[in-house]
Amino acid sequence: MKGVILAGGLGTRLSPMTRVTNKHLLPVYDRPMIFYPIQQLVTCGIEEILIVTGGGSAGDFLKLLGDGEELGINHLNYAYQDGEGGIAQALGLAKDFSAGEPLIVILGDNLFQDSLEEAIGHYSQGDGAMIVLKEVDDPERFGVAILEDDRVVRVIEKPKPAPSNLAVTGCYFFDFRVFEIIEGLQPSSRGELEITDVNNKYIEWGEMRHHVLDGWWTDAGTVDSLFRANGLVSEDRDNPVLKGLSMELDYWKWSPSK
Ligand code: G1P
Repeated sequence: MKGVILAGGLGTRLSPMTRVTNKHLLPVYDRPMIFYPIQQLVTCGIEEILIVTGGGSAGDFLKLLGDGEELGINHLNYAYQDGEGGIAQALGLAKDFSAGEPLIVILGDNLFQDSLEEAIGHYSQGDGAMIVLKEVDDPERFGVAILEDDRVVRVIEKPKPAPSNLAVTGCYFFDFRVFEIIEGLQPSSRGELEITDVNNKYIEWGEMRHHVLDGWWTDAGTVDSLFRANGLVSEDRDNPVLKGLSMELDYWKWSPSK
């Protein structure tokens, strides 16, 4: 399985902090936000990773991450998303990278307390799709899943009121047919290709599974959720997923020229 991290977007909900940089380069506790999804994938043994980014700060990802070796990535690839076409459009740029293999996709502003290894195991056959759910108090902020007899029958983007409190987190599993689906998508009312439409297509096909998380999950795309993410990480410092793997990283040695 290969890993894709989606790290584009304007980060408008974090303006003015994102006026001169990309959201995913902002700090969460002691490191840039983008390190957390990378650490997740690396600790789960995913060796090939694609980062899709965009905007004016794309070059800063290269400066920060280089070839990924210091973070334990064997093969780090980059793609550039022109404009603001949405999460599904960004994922469409991973087609050549995937080369027919199943993908784990993580939104770059999502932090998970626990390793996603169990979820990966749950998706083991590598066909169809799987979404990762978490019970939350504020489901209206997210994609929300409706379950019947323990099957997902629909996901709805930011419904008000929410029909359940099961948020669709920013971790998805897809087989190669995701690219056919993306190619056939129409932009939503906000002009974007929506990941929720991709998920509903797999549900229509009867090929969507789900996995419910026990540990905490948060996004970090708003001032409040970024603040919350900082608190959660700082309270959980011995957590190997948040600390990183081989990564008793010598941050004091970390030099911008690397
Ligand atoms: C996106 C997805 C949403 C999902 C969320 C998770 O929303 O569209 O379905 O629940 O990520 O972080 P966004 O944060 O881009 O508004």
